[in-house]
Amino acid sequence: MKLAVVGGGSTYTPELVDGIATGESTESMPDITEIALVDPDEARLAAVGGCCARMLASAGHPARVTTTTDLSTGVDGASAVLLQLRVGGQRARLADETVPLRCGCVGQETTGAGGFAKALRTVPVVLDIAARVRAVAGDAWLVTFTNPVGIVTRALLREGHRAVGLCNVAIGLRRLCAELLGVDLGRVRLDHAGLNHLTWLRRVLVTGDRGEVDRLPELLAEHGPRLAEHAAAPLDWLRRTGVVPSYYLKYFYDHDAEVRRQRAGVPRAQVVAEVEAELLARYADPTVVTKPALLDRRGGAHYSTAALHLVQALTGRRPGEHVVNVGNDGALPFLPADAVVEVPAAVDGTGARPLPVPPLEPRWAGLVAHVAAYERLALEAAVHGGRDRVADALLAHPLVGQYALAEELADALVAANREHLPWA
Ligand code: G6P
Ligand code: MN
Ligand code: MN
Repeated sequence: MKLAVVGGGSTYTPELVDGIATGESTESMPDITEIALVDPDEARLAAVGGCCARMLASAGHPARVTTTTDLSTGVDGASAVLLQLRVGGQRARLADETVPLRCGCVGQETTGAGGFAKALRTVPVVLDIAARVRAVAGDAWLVTFTNPVGIVTRALLREGHRAVGLCNVAIGLRRLCAELLGVDLGRVRLDHAGLNHLTWLRRVLVTGDRGEVDRLPELLAEHGPRLAEHAAAPLDWLRRTGVVPSYYLKYFYDHDAEVRRQRAGVPRAQVVAEVEAELLARYADPTVVTKPALLDRRGGAHYSTAALHLVQALTGRRPGEHVVNVGNDGALPFLPADAVVEVPAAVDGTGARPLPVPPLEPRWAGLVAHVAAYERLALEAAVHGGRDRVADALLAHPLVGQYALAEELADALVAANREHLPWA
């Protein structure tokens, strides 16, 4: 089968190819014949594509790597298309991380006002790509890592695309729990629910001699500090509530301290830009034939495992349960059916269907409902444009939520992103 990667010039791509070429048996995919990298940046395509080809060759994997700046050529004949693009690159991300901070709000590329700015830039581009993919590869599944994943997936599903949203937070937690318990990844399921980057892990279900047992209480008792570090949450709180929040919840539950840390620190966009420059230099080096260890300094650890498992399921090779971003369809009954939620889903060649999850307790559900309503307004603003729609969505966001702040941020975000917003 052919796999296409839109945003294939990303410095993450060798991580994906490493999973294909050398991954553990559950993720390596011997039947991939072509990996097509699509990207507008020819220099990146040359460096990343060359490295990926050497990695496959040195691992003895038969797939060939093709590169193109032409989307239709790249996705033609593909069974699955991964979307992993970043409109405006790290420079636009820097604005996402710094403009809100000037107004006293946390600066983050997926959460709060910064994540909204990213949605404004990204949704129209992704919808245009999806329409063009549909024209030449109508049966292909779109697997989107493009942030903000919840809003981007919602945009795609609303237009009827065969799309599933994916994030590595769940697989990261699943791997950590499997490792701490000393059991195979395949025996671990998560009760993980909420919205993308707004989830709570409530049970870690491990299959053993006595059937399936929730081992999260044991994990919290024996490995609490590791989980607290991973979740960026206080250990006492974890043990008291018995759940593990996504580390993105620190932007809500530790907002003011996070603003102070960000003001004193270096923006993540700047750190990542430096890592990327170094990675691109390594990829361009013909002696480099394996994934550089430096790639582990990026946040996307294990994204290849999550993506390849999902592609195997969506192409009917290995149906299974995956934590993905899907249409709610009653999984969280307090949300509209067309909200996009991040929950375990049954995935096969016909798509992803959310599995029933225990009710989300009121203390988490309130925030989820609040952010889901914002996401709906954010999508309206991204699709239709307009400064007032931007202000309306900001007022609906729990991290903004004040008249003056919403107005000030609306003007600042539009000004900072003007070159990427056709309507501004
Ligand atoms: C995690 C998140 C991704 C995000 C990434 C950022 O993997 O799940 O959604 O894109 O971190 O990593 P970076 O290295 O760019 O800060
Ligand atoms: Mn993510
Ligand atoms: Mn609220």
